[in-house]
Amino acid sequence: MPEIVVLRWGHRPQRDARLTSHVVLTARALGASGLILSDIHDEKIKETVEKVTKNWGGAFFFEMEVPWKKAVKEWKKEGRIVVHLTAYGENIQTSDVLQRIKASEKDILVLVGSQKVPKEFFSESVSDFNVAIGNQPHSECACLAIFLDRFFEGKELSRKFEVAKKRIIPQKRGKKLNGK
Ligand SMILES: C[S@@+](CC[C@H](N)C(=O)[O-])C[C@H]1O[C@@H](n2cnc3c(N)ncnc32)[C@H](O)[C@@H]1O
Repeated sequence: MPEIVVLRWGHRPQRDARLTSHVVLTARALGASGLILSDIHDEKIKETVEKVTKNWGGAFFFEMEVPWKKAVKEWKKEGRIVVHLTAYGENIQTSDVLQRIKASEKDILVLVGSQKVPKEFFSESVSDFNVAIGNQPHSECACLAIFLDRFFEGKELSRKFEVAKKRIIPQKRGKKLNGK
């Protein structure tokens, strides 16, 4: 299965902290291998990710400060592809864009914005595919979740996270953790 890494662009430390944390948690829980928070340093987000990974396991990586152009260039150098999630792109439901992405069998860098993204994100030199999770504007977190779930066809939801301190034992009611 190809690997997916998420690049979060445009994070504003005061305003976007909670949503960016959710984007990271969504990426990790739904099968991405890591997330790059481009162009910015935010120690709080880093701490949140490290804490979650330490407790709940898995090998998710987190990088920040890398300029987005550099991240994209490095990624493409090895022949991997870039998918930009945008309400203006090819509709994931009514077009064959997901089939074409899967057919490439390449690892994917998924770009998600927060504020209005640079125009270049839409260009061929940056994005191999511009994908819309429906053509209505909504949330980076929701669009990432749907893209990952459709890409991994739900298999990511039963994935085991190795070396976890905490593991949930699913219950019909109430809460149960390993050893408790
Ligand atoms: C809240 S939106 C930002 C909208 C911003 N005001 C603009 O005009 O670009 C934040 C991010 O969510 C993602 N997004 C929102 N709706 C989407 C959709 N329907 N399909 C795919 N991605 C979407 C995009 O990555 C977008 O950059």
